[in-house]
Amino acid sequence: MISTNIAQQVETAASAIRQLTNYQPTIGLVLGSGLSELASSIQEPDIIRYDQIPGWPQSTVVGHSGRLVIGHLEGKTVLVQQGRAHYYEGYSMDQITLPVRVMKALGIQILIVTNAAGGINPNFNPGDLMLITDHINFLGLAGLNPLRGPNDDKVGPRFPDMIGTYDWQLRQLAHQAAVANNFTLQQGTYAYVAGPSFETPAELRFLRTVGADAVGMSTVPTVVVARHAGMQILGISSITNKADPDPKPGTVVTHTEVLETGQQIIPRLTALLRGILQQL
Ligand code: HPA
Repeated sequence: MISTNIAQQVETAASAIRQLTNYQPTIGLVLGSGLSELASSIQEPDIIRYDQIPGWPQSTVVGHSGRLVIGHLEGKTVLVQQGRAHYYEGYSMDQITLPVRVMKALGIQILIVTNAAGGINPNFNPGDLMLITDHINFLGLAGLNPLRGPNDDKVGPRFPDMIGTYDWQLRQLAHQAAVANNFTLQQGTYAYVAGPSFETPAELRFLRTVGADAVGMSTVPTVVVARHAGMQILGISSITNKADPDPKPGTVVTHTEVLETGQQIIPRLTALLRGILQQL
C-alpha cells in the first residue's frame, strides 16, 4: 500500500470520528487483552464502535471489545481504544497501525499503550506490572516493519530514531504513581512476536538470551508508528503468566489464564493510569 492511500484512509477515519464526538482528546490509551474494563471509569463518554469508522480493523479475539471511548478521566480528555487488532488475526501492518495514525491526526500527542505479556524474567510473577523500557521488534527485524514503503516526510523521517522511544519523563511519572499507590513496577524489555501460538521453551530460552524480560503479540507496530510521528510514548505490560524457558512437565499457558490474570491486575493498572493522568 502506498503512503498516499494510508493518508487518505487516516483522514477518512479521523473525519468519521470528528463527526461522532465533540471532544478533542490529547491523550490516547490502548487497552490490551483482558484490560478493557478500565474504560468504564471515563466520565460522560462518547462511545464509537469500530464498525462505525471506515477502515478501522475489528478485533476478533475474545477479551478484546471493539470500541473507542472518548471523554474525561482525571481532568484530561482521553481517547481509549478498547480492544485492538493483531497481526496474527490476518491484518496487515498498515491495518493494525491505522488506529495510531488516526490518533495522531486527531491531535493526540501522548500515547499510553498497555498489553498482556508473558514474564520471561525469572523475577517476574503473574500479576506484576512492567514498565516497558525498550523493545525487540522481531517482526520488524525480519522485514515486517509498519514503516516499510514510501515515507511521508510530513509525518516523520525516513529513518526514525528508536533510542528514546519509551519516554523517560513519563516513566518517572509512572514510578511515582505506583509508589503513591503502595506498589512498585517491574521494568524491562518487551519482545514482540507474531503469535498466535505461545512460545516453545526453546524459543523462550532464545528470547531470554537476547535480553527479553517479557514477550507478547501486540503493541510494537503501534509504538514504531507513534515514534515515527513524534508522539510521547509510555508502555505498560501486565504480566499475566510465566513464560518459563524451563517448565515443569505438564505446564501449559492458555488465553483463559491470560484473561483471568488480566482481570486481577485491573484495579492496580487503573490506579496507576489514573495517577499518571493526574500528573500530566
Ligand atoms: N507469550 C506471548 N504473548 C503473551 C503471553 C505469552 O506468554 N502472555 C500474554 N501474551
